[in-house]
Amino acid sequence: MSENDQQKTNDVSRRQFLNYTLMGVGGFLVAGTITPMLRFAIDPVLKVDEETDMVAIGDISKYGPEPTREDFQFPVKDGWAEYELPQTAWISVFENDKGEREVLALSPICKHLGCTVQWDTHEDYPEHFYCPCHDGLYTKDGINVPGTPPTAPLDVYQYKVDDKGTLYLGKAVPREEL
Ligand code: FES
Repeated sequence: MSENDQQKTNDVSRRQFLNYTLMGVGGFLVAGTITPMLRFAIDPVLKVDEETDMVAIGDISKYGPEPTREDFQFPVKDGWAEYELPQTAWISVFENDKGEREVLALSPICKHLGCTVQWDTHEDYPEHFYCPCHDGLYTKDGINVPGTPPTAPLDVYQYKVDDKGTLYLGKAVPREEL
């Protein structure tokens, strides 16, 4: 091999070495920049719906068989956002056939198209939940009245009562999911 050829070989090796070094450093810098951005983009999606389980509403003794409206705030954690979601429940407490205390906390969201129902506001339908949007009707226990637009009962809040008699409400769910 001539001295000239040897020089060329050395030049190529040096060039390759420089290329590999630059590619390595460049890749490291790109990865370091992009990884936090990807985490920033993906993390909120993964963390959606981290809601606390139940919210204290009040002493169970203040509720009776007549539905009582209760407005409360439900804390929601959605990605990095934390906020209070306004909620309403129609709460009644009564004895069932076995003489046991039962709590019924109804969602006011009409199952037809999502308007808000009110208790006992229409003079033609006393003791009913009435939806003014399309004359939807529900009985006192939230069952849709046949022949009116809603096709399902009002959703029901999950609940618990602690040792001190404090009522807690969770999420409102369709009855079949209770
Ligand atoms: S939204 Fe309630 S009856 Fe239509």
